[in-house]
Amino acid sequence: MIIGAAKEVLDGERRVALTPDSAQQLQKLGYECAIESGAGEAANFSDADYSDVGVKVIADAKALWETADILIKVRPPEAFELELTHEGQTLISFFWPAQNFKLLQQFAEKRVNVLAMDMVPRISRAQKMDALSSMANIAGYRAVMEAGNNFGRFFTGQITAAGKVPPAKVLIIGAGVAGLAAIGASTSLGAITLAFDVRPEVAEQVRSMGAEFVYLDFEEEQQDGASTGGYASVSSPEFREAQLEKFRELAPEVDIVITTALIPGREAPELWTEDMVQSMKPGSVIVDLAAEKGGNCKLTKMDEKIVTDNNVTVIGYTDLPSRMATQSSTLYATNIRHMMFDLTPEKDGQANINMEDDVIRGATATKDGVITFPPPKPKIAAIAAQKPKAPEKTPEELAAEDVAAAKAAGRNQLGLLIGGGAVMALIGTYAPESFMQHFIVFVLAVFVGFQVIWGVAHSLHTPLMAVTNAISGIIILGALLQLGSDSWIVWFLAGISVLIASVNIVGGFMVTRRMLQMFNKS
Ligand code: NAI
Repeated sequence: MIIGAAKEVLDGERRVALTPDSAQQLQKLGYECAIESGAGEAANFSDADYSDVGVKVIADAKALWETADILIKVRPPEAFELELTHEGQTLISFFWPAQNFKLLQQFAEKRVNVLAMDMVPRISRAQKMDALSSMANIAGYRAVMEAGNNFGRFFTGQITAAGKVPPAKVLIIGAGVAGLAAIGASTSLGAITLAFDVRPEVAEQVRSMGAEFVYLDFEEEQQDGASTGGYASVSSPEFREAQLEKFRELAPEVDIVITTALIPGREAPELWTEDMVQSMKPGSVIVDLAAEKGGNCKLTKMDEKIVTDNNVTVIGYTDLPSRMATQSSTLYATNIRHMMFDLTPEKDGQANINMEDDVIRGATATKDGVITFPPPKPKIAAIAAQKPKAPEKTPEELAAEDVAAAKAAGRNQLGLLIGGGAVMALIGTYAPESFMQHFIVFVLAVFVGFQVIWGVAHSLHTPLMAVTNAISGIIILGALLQLGSDSWIVWFLAGISVLIASVNIVGGFMVTRRMLQMFNKS
């Protein structure tokens, strides 16, 4: 089969669905590749780059759509592109079937199969094909770059001979894929970064990326906006009020606001109101990623950059990935390549739309003239879906459980003490006195050592190893002194001690070396 990549027709779209690299991978699957002349130009891939790796460069769209069995694109097709299709073809692109249902019907009538990249389910196995995430990742990064470009100060704080510069304060609303990418870019530039999301479970991720999670003054069970499907559900009016109150408090402090809060299929919630914009410092910047769905900021104008009367810049670009066309084309083409990989299990250059496969089923919007959208829910749980919570216990039940657990632990300890005492008494009856002295010290040392090490948090095991290395040193010293003993049992035991302690020390050095390598940037 021939895979053809069409040139994007939407004004200003610079991305392309096929790169020379992805073409080579597709050829390994048994496909021939073709591209419309100039399709990769805006993403810095020339026709010659493609022909060098055996991709056929076709002069115009009409010829390409006639030749190809599988058409790959980035943006949803335009009506005139529908005219160019023929029965039995397969189109793979962003399609937004819910919004473009009429167009979808026309594709079904022409018996053209449609695989919508925006319908790839958000399950772990499909991450490599998740074009929405790879584009959102770029958009999050680019949002920080756009903000920096329009912001008159450094991100990082500096103390120079010319004066002290405070770090910029960045607030990111919505810590999904785009939000986390924005957090990563912002913290790496040295800004103080705050982030908020309706899903409190992302707080850990936010903190691990060096940002601070903004908590609301709100009952915890109400703050949990998570639901199944990997997306947050709509919050209650009380929650919204608490959220706005917090943002109002933060508005005069923050220099840059990046909003990414959106629930798929809905209008963007208005989270950054006009009065918040007015209370921001002059020179502040807002980048609204939800501009396409009305924007999270009241003043956002889709695809425009405006400057308010109090000198706050509000950016509502909806083509952020396209503004980094080489990067986004590379990632998108890789997503398509992975999709083709799953569609071609035999690697024979023949695509098989297998409706038993959760991911392919999810993405397929029409097949053999039948509309298969919307797909059933995937059988596998979504990545961010929460485990069902056990029913909440009352404080009385929890207190009763604590008392029962403490009693059981006490009984266990008493049993151990009595058992241990009995064993010691038994040994003491028969063993010589000098042996008992050493034996009791040994038993106590084991007990104390166990108690100390057992209570150490996992993250502290490496520093703990430094201490055990020091102890190993003492053991080796003691054992060396005993190695010259006349009794073979003594020198045998001393030999074993030297061996085990040496293993501990060498292992400690190896782990430390590995840990240091993790921080090595070269
Ligand atoms: P996502 O679904 O992974 O993340 C959205 C996050 O917003 C979720 O974590 C959700 O819990 C949170 N959220 C929802 N309602 C909220 C509320 N009321 N308050 C606080 N947080 C809330 O989505 P992803 O992939 O990160 O995309 C984010 C946005 O970026 C989407 O609107 C997407 O359309 C847009 N986007 C914009 C681009 C552009 O060029 N402007 C390019 C790519 C994506």
